[in-house]
Amino acid sequence: MSIVDASAAGRAPAWRAPWHWPWPLPAAAAWLAAWALFAAARPLAGPGAAALLACAAGALIAWRQPRRWRRAIVGLGFPASALASGAAASWPAWVWLLPLALFVLAYPLRGWRDAPLFPTPAGALDALAAQIALPAGARVLDAGCGIGDGMVALRRAWPHSRIEGVELSPALAWLARRRCRWADVQRGDMWTRSWQGAALVYVFQRPESMARAWDKARAELAPGAWLVSLGFEVPGQAPTLVLAADGVRTLYAWRMQPRQQGCRSDIPQQGCRSDLPQQDCRSVSPQQGFRPDARRHGGRAGSTPVARRR
Ligand SMILES: C[S@@+](CC[C@H](N)C(=O)[O-])C[C@H]1O[C@@H](n2cnc3c(N)ncnc32)[C@H](O)[C@@H]1O
Repeated sequence: MSIVDASAAGRAPAWRAPWHWPWPLPAAAAWLAAWALFAAARPLAGPGAAALLACAAGALIAWRQPRRWRRAIVGLGFPASALASGAAASWPAWVWLLPLALFVLAYPLRGWRDAPLFPTPAGALDALAAQIALPAGARVLDAGCGIGDGMVALRRAWPHSRIEGVELSPALAWLARRRCRWADVQRGDMWTRSWQGAALVYVFQRPESMARAWDKARAELAPGAWLVSLGFEVPGQAPTLVLAADGVRTLYAWRMQPRQQGCRSDIPQQGCRSDLPQQDCRSVSPQQGFRPDARRHGGRAGSTPVARRR
């Protein structure tokens, strides 16, 4: 195991930051750094501020770890060992409120109705890119973009598209903006923000959010645009595409079909239920007379779905 990159013969080995070191060195480095900082800062700043500084150092190294369990081990090492050793007894009580404050900052209570942060795995959308061709510059929206992993996967799938994100949590939106400088990230509510003009809207939410996402997609997306969901189906709506995502989850994609023209109250047309108001009419389900046409999927010619196409 080497913490320097000496692979290039004849060149001076390059220093690599601790988060790039082979596992478990980042954990050991984070814990040592945190304790060293705590010991150095305590006489100057007092135990509370010194503990915060030490936690922040651990969090910085944890943040750069590639897996969630590694982040947890790295970031929680200092506070857990301080608790176990009894050193935490000298910390003022308010220090323990900080994680709670950070949690509430990251997850405004309103966001709890939909999904909390759970990032899209890198490459989870690759199979979809082989099925859906988007023109260069097409607008692609990650509705509830968290810290940007979904946008990274979307960009990898459609590198020439314009990636946008909307996120309820100010802290997560700020982080997403910093991570994905090439994307247009807005802080806001994905249900009130318009989806109009998007060629594809990506959601990774909860099963309970899917009916609402469907209604919004039907109301606001143009015919031919896509609603894509990682992990969760829309109840009662047959997907246009069903693909394996990352070996664990499934990807579902619905291509928006032309709205039933009779929905426009000024143009009476065949097939629209006259008993429904306009907005209800736009979300008429397949069972109510509208069937997605499996042959008009808009996929790339000759491509084969990993799982199935309906
Ligand atoms: C499962 S995470 C997915 C994050 C990101 N899309 C990804 O795939 O990596 C769901 C995200 O949706 C956000 N969220 C929940 N409700 C929201 C809302 N009404 N408007 C905007 N974002 C919301 C949460 O804060 C969380 O970051």
